[in-house]
Amino acid sequence: MNMNDPLTVSDPASPQAAAALLRAGQLCAFPTETVYGLGADATNPDAVLAIYATKGRPRFNPLIIHCADLAMAERFARFSPLALRLAALWPASLTLVLPARPGNGLADVATAGLDTVAIRIPDHPLALAVIGEAGLPLAAPSANPSGRLSPTTAEQVRRGFAGKVPVLDGGPCRAGVESTIIAVDGERLVQLRAGAMARGEIEDRAGVTVELAHADAAIAAPGMLRSHYAPGALVRLNTTPQPGEAYLAFGAASAFAGPVRNLSPSGDLHEAARNLFAMLGELDASGAPTIAVAPIPRTGLGEAINDRLERAAAPR
Ligand code: TXA
Ligand code: MG
Repeated sequence: MNMNDPLTVSDPASPQAAAALLRAGQLCAFPTETVYGLGADATNPDAVLAIYATKGRPRFNPLIIHCADLAMAERFARFSPLALRLAALWPASLTLVLPARPGNGLADVATAGLDTVAIRIPDHPLALAVIGEAGLPLAAPSANPSGRLSPTTAEQVRRGFAGKVPVLDGGPCRAGVESTIIAVDGERLVQLRAGAMARGEIEDRAGVTVELAHADAAIAAPGMLRSHYAPGALVRLNTTPQPGEAYLAFGAASAFAGPVRNLSPSGDLHEAARNLFAMLGELDASGAPTIAVAPIPRTGLGEAINDRLERAAAPR
């Protein structure tokens, strides 16, 4: 795909049409319950390389393999009894990093040559229909240029890639932040990325405490770069706005004259997660040089929201 070509592509009107593009080795963006994914046949190295090229993504950063069901997932990874307990949560906003089966047929570029593989069964009827119709595992990072905000609508995908990537439109994403990533390492569970499924829910199902990955941990998600999800504007956290800034509020907020969005006037963290990337993008588009962000509680989904905001605010 030539990103300089001025022509825009036409969008698939059905999961069947999206699956046909993917089977032919082309890219197609599709909705999941978390964010839109930029999909490719995970067994086709050229198709996967097109993901890296289109996103401008570093090659060492492996991709999540999206499967239609557990039988498909078991072709690519080994599931211990503990992993199977967590897999019982699928379809869900949960990605499991598991030992890869040798010779599993996945393109090396999809897993960046690691001996583990990240797998998820998304909780979205259109995503499941696309994977099922394609009959293929789909490598799918968030459908945004690398380092930019993750898209939660088809329109944001079109804008991010200047209309050069076909998008199956499924309306706005329900969760609005990416999946929680858990590495299953023997009897240990390590959270590599906070996400749309709260840690407590995973611990309840597993009966095991989830450890948090730290910067120097042996297991890490290569994609957890410090500056990520960056809007053009600077971001200031846990604060109130100054004149001339834009304001991302949460809960009851006092009046402010500049551009304002409220993640959730009622203080609901699910609503806030759903609105996060879209509202950051809207405030960024207002042209204000700085976005001031209200404090957000760190409980439940607040962990993922604060993680994304800290990356958006990180020095670049
Ligand atoms: O909600 C989501 O997870 C979305 C939707 C489209 O499913 N996808 C997504 O993909 O967020 P992406 O590529 O933006 O993030 C995948 C993360 C990266 O941080 C990558 O480093 C990590 O998963 N990852 C992939 N394979 C891994 C592995 N074998 N070990 C550790 N981390 C891995
Ligand atoms: Mg991403």
